[in-house]
Amino acid sequence: MKQPAPHVLIVDDEEHIRRIMSIMLTKRGYRCTTAAGGEEALAAVDREGADAVLTDLMMPGIDGLGLLRRLKETDPDIVVVVVTAFATMETAIEAMKAGAYDYISKPFNEDEMTLVLEKALERRRLIDENRRLKKEIGEREDSGSFLGESPAMRRVFGMIAKAAESKATVLITGESGTGKELAARSIHMNGPRRERPFVAVNCGAIPQNLMESEFFGHVRGAFTGADKAKPGLLTEADGGTLFLDEISELPLEMQVKFLRVLQEEEFRRVGENAPRKVDLRVLAATNKSLPQEVREGRFREDLFYRLNVVRIEMPPLRDRREDIPALALHFLAEAATRNGLGPKRFLPAALKVLAGQSYSGNVRALRNIIEQAAVMSDGEIIGPDDLFFAGPPAPQQDPGETPGDGPPSLVRLPPGLMDLKAALRQVTAETERVIIGRALASVAANRTQAARLLGLSRRALITKIQTYGL
Ligand SMILES: Nc1ncnc2c1ncn2[C@@H]1O[C@H](COP(=O)(O)OP(=O)(O)OP(=O)(O)O)[C@@H](O)[C@H]1O
Ligand SMILES: [Mg+2]
Repeated sequence: MKQPAPHVLIVDDEEHIRRIMSIMLTKRGYRCTTAAGGEEALAAVDREGADAVLTDLMMPGIDGLGLLRRLKETDPDIVVVVVTAFATMETAIEAMKAGAYDYISKPFNEDEMTLVLEKALERRRLIDENRRLKKEIGEREDSGSFLGESPAMRRVFGMIAKAAESKATVLITGESGTGKELAARSIHMNGPRRERPFVAVNCGAIPQNLMESEFFGHVRGAFTGADKAKPGLLTEADGGTLFLDEISELPLEMQVKFLRVLQEEEFRRVGENAPRKVDLRVLAATNKSLPQEVREGRFREDLFYRLNVVRIEMPPLRDRREDIPALALHFLAEAATRNGLGPKRFLPAALKVLAGQSYSGNVRALRNIIEQAAVMSDGEIIGPDDLFFAGPPAPQQDPGETPGDGPPSLVRLPPGLMDLKAALRQVTAETERVIIGRALASVAANRTQAARLLGLSRRALITKIQTYGL
């Protein structure tokens, strides 16, 4: 593929110098634009960017050094070469310290100028390339371990593979922690845009008053406080994928704007009149029911249909328990590595306990439980006692059990208080909660007495009461 001509912005207050430089560089295959001063240069960069800026130092208004500093604030990687006369030599050195790539001295020599520019642009290319690679490797790691052997997950993988090929908008639904973001990354990484950016935005995390400028960008001076131009998330994702996470949190007025982006593939920066074209693949996720949001007037029906072209529903973990052991082993190895621990392994009983939980926080909850167990357990082995469950215990399906309100293991416990103390050492955290609840009830919620019954310190008991929300 042919690279587009590098774009150089020439900044000088003298018209003839701008012209000479422009002619020289155009002849050598650069695309040139010019600006007569710092202000004009900043506006030009805001408007159309530049691969390199070649600037004079002494200029009325914002001078070369001021321009350099302003440019570096918005884009630390921008390549700036300063042009210096003997009189401004000291300033040129100061400019180098402030991040100029190099300087050329006046009167300038055509070869020297192009040589410096070429080197500068080469460096810029390397920086960009490096960043892209790093990002890609990061993303590969993320989506490299998307596990699941259950029929439900196989169906999801099949849909992801099909969706990845197309540009269709995909709505990913499912409870919290089921892997919606992972699914979105996987669609991106398996499709033709994998080399291009994947920009994930949590729509619930952006303050309403900043939303438009965050998404669409703004020009300098568009509103009070907008002292720098901002390209915005859409521009950042151009050519790649924009992932709108928690889409239900988008305010209605932004929903209208997004509908336009999806239909026309263009948008307007805040403070700018002309629309800009953008080539995006949009993925959206939510753990709310959008049809319900539509019925209640919080979500636009037209946007819902526009997003819901392909729908992928992430199954809750409790409906695919067969995936739990593989996930658990994966998270254990990951936690051990990340925390610099030695090798760790589960007792079969621990895996059995893990597979029996209901996980209202789904895969994320499983991951947290395992990370905590990995860090808290002393030796190599993780047993059932090392597992700590915050949520309510899973309904047990064993038909041999007597029905009762607590977990079956407790139903069989004799009611004697000493037995409670012994029981606490044996059972896993899910039942611990119930035992503590019973102990508290038996002493009219007197914590000191309950702690004594349970063989816990008062402080430990209070921590557990808080953890379990008792
Ligand atoms: N099938 C899976 N294989 C491996 N890891 C998974 C899987 N599903 C989820 N995870 C991991 O679980 C965590 C939660 O996943 P993710 O952030 O994608 O969930 P989510 O559905 O977007 O959650 P939320 O609705 O809370 O934003 C992440 O650490 C993710 O890597
Ligand atoms: Mg998410």
